[in-house]
Amino acid sequence: MVIQWYPGHMTKAKRAMLDDVKKVDLVIELLDARIPFSSRNPDIDELARGKYRLILLNKADLADEAVTAAWVRHFRESGLRAIALDARAKTARKQVETAITDICREKIEKDRKRGISGRRIKAMVAGIPNVGKSTVINSLAGHAAAKTGNLPGVTRGNQWIRVGTSVDLLDTPGILWPKFEDETVGTNLALVGSVNEEITIPEELAAELIKSLRQISPGAVSRRYGAEEGEPFDVLKAAAIQRSCFKKQSEPDTERMAKQLLNEFRSGKLGRISLEQPPVTDEAAHG
Ligand code: G4P
Repeated sequence: MVIQWYPGHMTKAKRAMLDDVKKVDLVIELLDARIPFSSRNPDIDELARGKYRLILLNKADLADEAVTAAWVRHFRESGLRAIALDARAKTARKQVETAITDICREKIEKDRKRGISGRRIKAMVAGIPNVGKSTVINSLAGHAAAKTGNLPGVTRGNQWIRVGTSVDLLDTPGILWPKFEDETVGTNLALVGSVNEEITIPEELAAELIKSLRQISPGAVSRRYGAEEGEPFDVLKAAAIQRSCFKKQSEPDTERMAKQLLNEFRSGKLGRISLEQPPVTDEAAHG
């Protein structure tokens, strides 16, 4: 299945991102913990050059814990600090704040040596659509968040949200565009619900999911839907019958079943499943 999607407004989004990144010390990059590779924007390294960086492996509550831990190590080995996050959890704010302070300690130290104290760290959140940017911003803002108002030089009406004692966060996230350089990336983005539903065919997508789940989590499909082996389309048909999901002439409604399967996967009902593993490094392979 080939998914191509590069809406025109992404060009505008790129310009906005380029503008905003100039105003911050730190770029907080959100990835989907189930597909860290596929949800990563290919240009982020260039865009965030010279900035402090933090990667949030968001929706970690839906991903396999051990695989997410392996991704955290993978990013650390490439010099990037990453943490696993459920942006909706009460602990999210503290976790992110601690990581930011850690990362920016160097800047804070430098400021202190120069006799500047209390200079706040300016940060922004960036990521592809639906990865949880607004949720993270809301979590960080908390209830008692004070908007600090427009600062000089801020032209697009951006506001800074005060986070804890040392961070100011841009209230609008940087929207990054996903990459579609190969088919698997497009399929993975569609599976987690990051691309527009209208451009995917539910039965084809569900068939891809069934094939992947057989490898990643054998038994997950049969436990819930009664069948797993054979042609994915036949699995869907069997699942539709098991769920009494029929069209008018008592024909199994595989399209409706496919949508159900996808929704249940996306909401974690099939278990905590990571679709992507970090690449195996020489060190990991031999050590
Ligand atoms: P965006 O700004 O990057 O486009 O994403 P947004 O925050 O709108 O989040 C997209 C969806 O992902 C929302 O669900 C949100 O609740 C969910 N989400 C965000 N972070 C997490 C997380 O860490 N774990 C889980 N499980 N879900 C997360 P929605 O169904 O679109 O909206 P709602 O029903 O939650 O209101």
